[in-house]
Amino acid sequence: MKSKVSVIGSGFVGAMTAQRITEKNLADVALIDIIEGIPQGKALDISQSCTLEGFDAAITGTNDFSDIRGSSIVVITAGFPRTPGMTREDLVLKNGTVIRSVTEKIREYAPECIIITVTNPLDVMTHLAWKVSGFHEHRVMGMGGVLDTARYKYFLARELDVSIKDIDALVLGSHGDTMVPIAGYTTVKGVPVSQFMNKDRLDAIIERTKKGGAEIVQLLRSGSAWHAPSASIVAMVEAILRDSKRVMPVSAYLRGEYGIVDVHIGVPVKLGSSGVEEIFEIELTDEELAALRESADAIKETIGKLTIL
Ligand code: LAC
Repeated sequence: MKSKVSVIGSGFVGAMTAQRITEKNLADVALIDIIEGIPQGKALDISQSCTLEGFDAAITGTNDFSDIRGSSIVVITAGFPRTPGMTREDLVLKNGTVIRSVTEKIREYAPECIIITVTNPLDVMTHLAWKVSGFHEHRVMGMGGVLDTARYKYFLARELDVSIKDIDALVLGSHGDTMVPIAGYTTVKGVPVSQFMNKDRLDAIIERTKKGGAEIVQLLRSGSAWHAPSASIVAMVEAILRDSKRVMPVSAYLRGEYGIVDVHIGVPVKLGSSGVEEIFEIELTDEELAALRESADAIKETIGKLTIL
């Protein structure tokens, strides 16, 4: 039997996620939105590409949350995107209300699922979804680090003019301005990146990575990125559905790892059919550890603004 994945929110990120999941034949998809017609129209459009793209995964568009029944994974993309000049944190109250009501529905109709949160401010919304769901912490996570790492690796590959396949890297911390790219684990074919470029060049790439989402918001003027975000979500969905135990940076709940407690933040985890199956506490420099803790403090400060928690 095919698995089922529900995607809440049929905007650009949600629709593209649904399209990628069906095109890869990973699962049947329910695309949900409160706006009438949009999920139905997009689902029908994606369905009609099946003969050309050669998939037989089914996709249904609906306004009825009960249609998420039977989902192994529910991806939450619903909410308001950033506009130029806005930080992800500026969205906290508006999107907090959306996440709360969506998560209540998930708890009601898909109590066994794994939740992947994508709505910004990412780590805070993930924490909120976890609290409202009452789910085990292994089953609620946020997509941030996979995307930030993808951007970082892309910028590095272009700067060095080498294949993206030979770059390995890790971006931890918040999916926000305090994200923490780890220079020491940035390698080209396993060789530290410091042997390929000087610190100034690397610092410039790190800066661009931190503002990677904002750069696109600025260019688009309305809305934020969706191609790389949806690809990042689907990488996580695939790891969970296939139980492939991939190691990825994911926003996960910490209970003292890295000296951080009671917050969701990007750390390297093992992803499998149970969700976040292990959190890896890797060695960091004092500076990186301090940056990660600062990032956690920034997330906690935003959680503090969530009056609805
Ligand atoms: C970005 C949004 C999805 O980073 O946060 O593009």
